[in-house]
Amino acid sequence: MSSKADIILGLQWGDEGKGRIVDLYAKDYDVVARFAGGDNAGHSIVVGKQELALRIVPSAVMHSHVELFIGGGTVVNLRTLVDEFDALTALGVDVSRVKISDRAHVVLPHHVARDAAAERERANAIGTTGRGIGPAYVDRVARTGFRFADLSDADALAKQIRANVATGTDALDQVEGIVEAAARLARHVVDGVAYLHERLDAGARVLLEGAQGSLLDVGYGTYPYVTSSHTIAGGACTGLGIGPSAIGRVIGVLKAYCTRVGGGPFPSELHDERGEKLRRQGNEFGTVTGRPRRCGWFDAVAARYAVALNGLSAAVITKLDVLSGFERVSIVTGYRVDGMPATFAAAGRPELEVELQELQGWDEPIGDCRRIGDLPDAARAYVEKIRELIGVPVELVSVGRERSQLAR
Ligand code: IMP
Repeated sequence: MSSKADIILGLQWGDEGKGRIVDLYAKDYDVVARFAGGDNAGHSIVVGKQELALRIVPSAVMHSHVELFIGGGTVVNLRTLVDEFDALTALGVDVSRVKISDRAHVVLPHHVARDAAAERERANAIGTTGRGIGPAYVDRVARTGFRFADLSDADALAKQIRANVATGTDALDQVEGIVEAAARLARHVVDGVAYLHERLDAGARVLLEGAQGSLLDVGYGTYPYVTSSHTIAGGACTGLGIGPSAIGRVIGVLKAYCTRVGGGPFPSELHDERGEKLRRQGNEFGTVTGRPRRCGWFDAVAARYAVALNGLSAAVITKLDVLSGFERVSIVTGYRVDGMPATFAAAGRPELEVELQELQGWDEPIGDCRRIGDLPDAARAYVEKIRELIGVPVELVSVGRERSQLAR
């Protein structure tokens, strides 16, 4: 009997801690697939003392029975992927089980150069990760991109690189390395649509891993301060060539507070020492770029919007432990413009005002709690308040960095 694919994705501006949650759920799946984005993602998983930051390979590498699939909606830098394969191999991970869709697009040096140039030209920089992601998606839509389907044609690849860069630039020096990387990766390329449908038809348990966050979606995020792909649940369908009826549960990951890197609207941002404290206690620095993340209170208006965009089944709250030691914690419960209630669409309006609900904080460390019921009263009330505001069940709360620090 054919099976349905479940999705795990982020409900905020990325960095919700999805990698670790995917790692946890993945043990019950046969296939874990990425459907959008590229090496702009930095999915961290902590195993013992080892911290892995995955860029493109799905966050299920620690489960040797899981097939890892990079779907057609992604854009992949060949060199980054080869480096990631080497790093994983050195840790004893078998990368022969990684499959890449023939429909995925290749990120080339001119995409990276164009990303940097576009940022320099913008009056208000987006603060991209500088990985060439936007320009690679532009080429895909403009029908001038290079796909994995054509990867075995080394001449065509070299021609594509040369055609897009001026003679004598660094990019030309890279041609050989890229062609070499392509030759290594060619054996991982499959007909991505046939592959996934065969697996679903055979009843395989399939998990789809989102990248970035719902509020960075190119269509429904805080445009233009977004990434260039569809990061929401619908993006899993278009990014893998499956229909909505093939989707089972949609699980959304929410950090217990909010962060974002780069520019753009952030209604609950804190510009005072409380924001600094969140950054320090939560170690909020970019996985890919090392940039300090902007920090603020949990935004229930944004979260409810993301719940709706994704048709969410259940939520997971991460990094609740970071809030230990705050005397009071707040949640944004409403937006107002000119005194009138407003929706998330108003997030970027300069005259936006937020309504805050203040809750009692807690001092106790909570890293040893394994049941939501064991949390200190104030922490439990905080989780309950989020559940009530977003209207979906909270099935898991992370209370520390270690793999085992989870309360159910
Ligand atoms: P791009 O995806 O590199 O084009 O960057 C566009 C925006 O998305 C910038 O604000 C980035 O900081 C943000 N972004 C991209 N990937 C991630 C991520 O994995 N986590 C958090 N923010 C991201």
